[in-house]
Amino acid sequence: MNDHQFVLVLDFGGQYNQLIARRVRECGVYCEIKPYTTPLAELKALNPIGIIFTGGPNSVYLETSPHVDPAIFTWGVPILGICYGCQLLAHNLGGKVTEAQDDSAREYGKTVTYYDTDCKLFRGLPAEGVSWMSHGDYMAKVPEGFALVAHSANCPNVAIADETRGFYGVQFHPEVNHTENGVAMIRNFLYEVCGAKGDWSMEDYKRTAIAQVRERVGDGKVLLALSGGVDSSVCAALLAEAVGEQLTCVFVDHGLMRKNEGDEVEQAFSKWAMNFVRVDAEERFLTKLKGVSEPECKRKIIGEEFIRVFEEEAKKVGAVDFLAQGTIYPDVIESGAGDAAVIKSHHNVGGLPDYVDFKEIVEPLRLLFKDEVRQLGRELGLPEYLVMRQPFPGPGLAIRVIGDLTKEKLDTLRDADAIFREEIAAAGLDTEINQYFAVLTNTRSVGVMGDGRTYDYTLALRAVTTSDFMTADWARIPYEVLDRVSGRIVNEVPGINRIVYDITSKPPATIEFE
Ligand code: XMP
Repeated sequence: MNDHQFVLVLDFGGQYNQLIARRVRECGVYCEIKPYTTPLAELKALNPIGIIFTGGPNSVYLETSPHVDPAIFTWGVPILGICYGCQLLAHNLGGKVTEAQDDSAREYGKTVTYYDTDCKLFRGLPAEGVSWMSHGDYMAKVPEGFALVAHSANCPNVAIADETRGFYGVQFHPEVNHTENGVAMIRNFLYEVCGAKGDWSMEDYKRTAIAQVRERVGDGKVLLALSGGVDSSVCAALLAEAVGEQLTCVFVDHGLMRKNEGDEVEQAFSKWAMNFVRVDAEERFLTKLKGVSEPECKRKIIGEEFIRVFEEEAKKVGAVDFLAQGTIYPDVIESGAGDAAVIKSHHNVGGLPDYVDFKEIVEPLRLLFKDEVRQLGRELGLPEYLVMRQPFPGPGLAIRVIGDLTKEKLDTLRDADAIFREEIAAAGLDTEINQYFAVLTNTRSVGVMGDGRTYDYTLALRAVTTSDFMTADWARIPYEVLDRVSGRIVNEVPGINRIVYDITSKPPATIEFE
């Protein structure tokens, strides 16, 4: 995609780095994140129109903290330093950064800030607004050539600028929503300082990506494991558009999908002339899972069986030239991160390459963030329910029926889950809540319905808000909505006589029950 203007986001380990990159792209400018250790020659080869130094947890005056090749400052490319990035600018260009001695110079959270609107960064914006601060260090001396362009009650130098060289530093985080007009400041940097033209759009990406796939694939065969999730669906649509019948999508229907999901996926792809293979493997999976109640065992069985089914289908297709995967940009960035403790062994289709005969991998989404993948899906004409689909675990409903599985339990859960999802959408909460679903617990309890005693299952509702799914809070669903969901489920779904709402955050709980 290097026929677009390019902005470099140089990563110093801050927690909002991906957010910065997303904001830049939202402004219609293509950018990529590179580690601060990337050699300058490599960065130069990217030919950026501007550079953004991210925040980071370190103190710039320590030897051991991340630093840059000082030649970056004589390269002639505009730089915006955010938080640590601002201090790095100051430290390198003759200023002085020290640990804030008294609490008043340390700033965390929302801070009323005053801006110099003659500065290009703040041009056209209100002269006063809330900004989001998070810094313990203090710029004791501003480097030569820089002007102070923003201040707060506690801090005289919230932002600095050397407009001649195109260097700007802000102590606050313009990329977070708490900073009023923060995105407009980033936009100003891109358009007023770096000369951005705004040549990054999904329509354009679609065209370029299709052309690139065609060129790379030639008349070769492409194979894709389609799960029905957003990433693999958009990947499938893009490839279908690019290479049509050279593509085979294998959709393994393991019988652990939500209500109508299998049909919806099949329907969504019916408009493309490609080979769509839906494998009805419900019986096969349920037989393997019979009597199994331990969650990790379920995952393992499903993961292995999935690969087996896929492998059998792949054999029927014969040797393929390309295996396609719906890898997206956050996966690419995060794959460099160290191992976290394995809490649950997530089953994705990542292990496939070992089992399938192919020559190369094609990953047409590897430069896109999730919201861009959704946008691309829309561009390609995928239905909204597929494009906006919430995350769904590979093992599907098998880990939402606690304990051993039967088709009856799965059907009961499917009906209840569909009602919950319908009511959440009807209440307009589906875009606010990041993941919501029903869980069939293994607990039965006594109830009364009509004149009779019941002894039926307890259903748990789970709904969380989260940005990264690593931590999550339980969603504050209004009582009226919960009441409607509860009333409908106990009336419409036989076998359930009690509904509970899960009010635990993650940690200590996880999002899924198993
Ligand atoms: P937990 O339950 O670990 O879930 O808090 C975090 C996110 O991961 C999803 N999840 C899975 N995804 N295979 C997957 O592909 C799995 O085995 C799996 N288990 C959990 C979960 O739905 C949530 O979005």
